[in-house]
Amino acid sequence: MEKNKRIYLCLAHMSEEGWEQKFVKEAFDTNWVVPLGPNVDAFEADLERFMGQGKCVAALSSGTAAVHLSMVLLDVQPGDEVICQSFTFAASCNPIVYQGATPVFVDSEPETWNMDPDLLEKAIKDRLSRTGRLPKAIVLVCLYGMPPKYDEILAVADRYGILVVEDAAEAFGSRYKGRPCGTFGRFGVLSFNGNKMITTSGGGALVCPGEAAKRKILFYATQAREPFPYYQHEQIGYNYRMSNVCAGIGRGQMHVVEDHIRHHRLLAEQYDRLFSGVDRVSVHLNPSPEFDSNYWLNTIILDGSSDKEIERIRLLLDEAGVESRPLWKPLHLQPVFKDAPRYLNGVSERLFASGLCLPSGPFVSVEEAGFVADTIKSAL
Ligand SMILES: Cc1ncc(COP(=O)(O)O)c(C=O)c1O
Repeated sequence: MEKNKRIYLCLAHMSEEGWEQKFVKEAFDTNWVVPLGPNVDAFEADLERFMGQGKCVAALSSGTAAVHLSMVLLDVQPGDEVICQSFTFAASCNPIVYQGATPVFVDSEPETWNMDPDLLEKAIKDRLSRTGRLPKAIVLVCLYGMPPKYDEILAVADRYGILVVEDAAEAFGSRYKGRPCGTFGRFGVLSFNGNKMITTSGGGALVCPGEAAKRKILFYATQAREPFPYYQHEQIGYNYRMSNVCAGIGRGQMHVVEDHIRHHRLLAEQYDRLFSGVDRVSVHLNPSPEFDSNYWLNTIILDGSSDKEIERIRLLLDEAGVESRPLWKPLHLQPVFKDAPRYLNGVSERLFASGLCLPSGPFVSVEEAGFVADTIKSAL
């Protein structure tokens, strides 16, 4: 490996042709340096084509804003409970609390690492018997790009008439049975943060069922301004629209999104090959051909390891110039959520104690993946 070069988890990667700069320059040249404009419209049209299924997409300032607006549109209010996958990043859950509602955490199953359908049903029944009310919504996550067990989860949600928000922030380009993640629930959340499959520097989007829902999202995303010549407000709104400059980056990134996804998947194949036959190490892969992860971050599990051993390996990788990271700390273990109800089976805690995220972005070469694997093998 090149001396002094660090290998990062997932860096933003711009097109070699400079598409991003072309669209950003256009925004400046035409003075569309505002949170609306031709790049926003065109990026949304690109996203709608990419997601398909007749969905509409509203471009927003972040994935977190998208989760929040999904809660607003589902009328989540103080006193409500919302079920959320515990094994995820805090942004999947924080907007539940912004609305004054209570998150109820549900653990994962070991195949996809996403919400366990049986535990979900148990949680719904138990909340109903304790509170006399059904949870208002379910936040389902596609962790590290892996699709959840949609059929089973959606069957449970349908049985109780609870709407699902899919947090596909990490799963842009992932598919389940050929259909893109983010198009299964009532709403789908996308993130274009700097470390995601494509970036707008910071940004996100909410995938929704059609034009009427999109109009509603845009209404709340632009301060809930009523159609009067002066500023009239009858609802509380937010400043969540995507900037036309950022959308220019997004438009450019849509020219290379397929290359990015291909590269993440190539690295998954490489890690799988490099660790095959290595005692205790397993690479997290699609559990069956129905699942088609984008492998946003490639992850490994070290069987029987502890968080101390994971930290030892992380530090050794760091010394060798490799960025790695423990898996998400389950939200039910986060001090800020210590009082939230939870339905657990030990899966996310076991994964947290024994997993590592490995470098995965377009800047990571096959040779570098080999170096990462060799460093881990010698650490073991
Ligand atoms: C699972 C998940 N949900 C939500 C978010 C929030 O997205 P953003 O950073 O664009 O607000 C992220 C990423 O940051 C994420 O990984």
